[in-house]
Amino acid sequence: MLDLIINSFWIILPSYFANFVPVLLKGKKPLDFKKNFVDGNRLLGDGKTIEGFFGGLFAGILFGLLQIYVQQYLPIQFHHNYLTIVLLSFGAVFGDLFGSFVKRRFNLKRGEPAPILDQLDFLIFSLVFISLILEINLSTVIFLILVTPIIHYISNIFAYLFKLKKVPW
Ligand code: CTP
Ligand code: MG
Repeated sequence: MLDLIINSFWIILPSYFANFVPVLLKGKKPLDFKKNFVDGNRLLGDGKTIEGFFGGLFAGILFGLLQIYVQQYLPIQFHHNYLTIVLLSFGAVFGDLFGSFVKRRFNLKRGEPAPILDQLDFLIFSLVFISLILEINLSTVIFLILVTPIIHYISNIFAYLFKLKKVPW
């Protein structure tokens, strides 16, 4: 069980960084250039910025590089490589964009909650992307789907308390 927990977190850390760092960056330039979709709503909304997108991607990959460097000294079964950290980070930022795209299609304004989608969009995309090159245990997938919303919830409360976010979700 401890192995499962350690390996699961080790695998997903680049995604967590890619997802959380954009919140810290306070980007300004909307990735959709304020354009609307055919339904008249914003394509993505002001919550998805160019700075956040590239900052998240960069942060995920950077943390992954650190993991690649230190993993030889740690008793961890799963070893990252350049492709796994890039796929996880890309998956996280694209999943987050996909989540906002879907929210806008349901008339949800920026920051309005969409339970499950808000917490898992980036995770699911990361897992799908990394699954293109290797097999992830079902137990790891289930564990991450169960714990990620809790971690997401706690980190967002902190982001809210530190005034990084306007709403705690
Ligand atoms: N963020 C960003 N660029 C991104 C992703 C996130 O600048 N590509 C920043 C924004 O400041 C955003 C915050 O991180 O407000 C939190 O992200 P998220 O909760 O995904 O965005 P919301 O503001 O809740 O917007 P949405 O309704 O689209 O989820
Ligand atoms: Mg949100």
